[in-house]
Amino acid sequence: MRFGVLVSGRGSNLQSLLDAEREGRLDPGVIACVVSNRPGVQALTRASDAGKPAIVVDHKAYPSRESFEAALVGTLEAHGVQAVVLAGFMRLLTPGFVARWRDRLINIHPSLLPAFPGAHAHRDALAYGVKVSGCTVHFVEPEMDAGPIILQAAVPVLDGDVEETLAARVLAEEHVILPRAVQLLAAGRLSREGRHVRIAPSV
Ligand code: GRF
Repeated sequence: MRFGVLVSGRGSNLQSLLDAEREGRLDPGVIACVVSNRPGVQALTRASDAGKPAIVVDHKAYPSRESFEAALVGTLEAHGVQAVVLAGFMRLLTPGFVARWRDRLINIHPSLLPAFPGAHAHRDALAYGVKVSGCTVHFVEPEMDAGPIILQAAVPVLDGDVEETLAARVLAEEHVILPRAVQLLAAGRLSREGRHVRIAPSV
């Protein structure tokens, strides 16, 4: 299964996928291309260092969300992409885009959903006073951070944590569960029943 990875910034989750592919942990998944909506970001350097097509589709260059997404889909299709990973991609996608990749579109979010959706998960978790946080890989639906959950990992919230320390602890787990979820999808081991995602045993 050929994956396109959409990014917007640092790309550490992308790096975890590139490393997993190199080590045979994505098999039969293949990273076909990396697309950023922002030029000049570290994720693009990581992609080209790994020998992957590193493409910019700058949302600012398009007059509407639909035309931006049409360019995105065109790029992904040109690279034979069959499934899409949002790895720190910071644009909301339209229902049309989500429908185009239904059951083939996953996102990583740095909280235990449904707690703390949105762009400030760590700040919100700390403000709430939770004792446990974590990360979630889920299928994407048009509502933000709301699709059926594939994998989650939990970490403790420690006394004295600030956004940066909690984020670092969670990120280490993101780098474990995202490649694992991509491999499961690639291997055809995920099936959806409503909100529930079943993981078939490996054969
Ligand atoms: C990660 O915490 C991811 O969960 C969130 O944005 C961050 C992206 O980090 N959606 P990186 O670009 O993968 O390093």
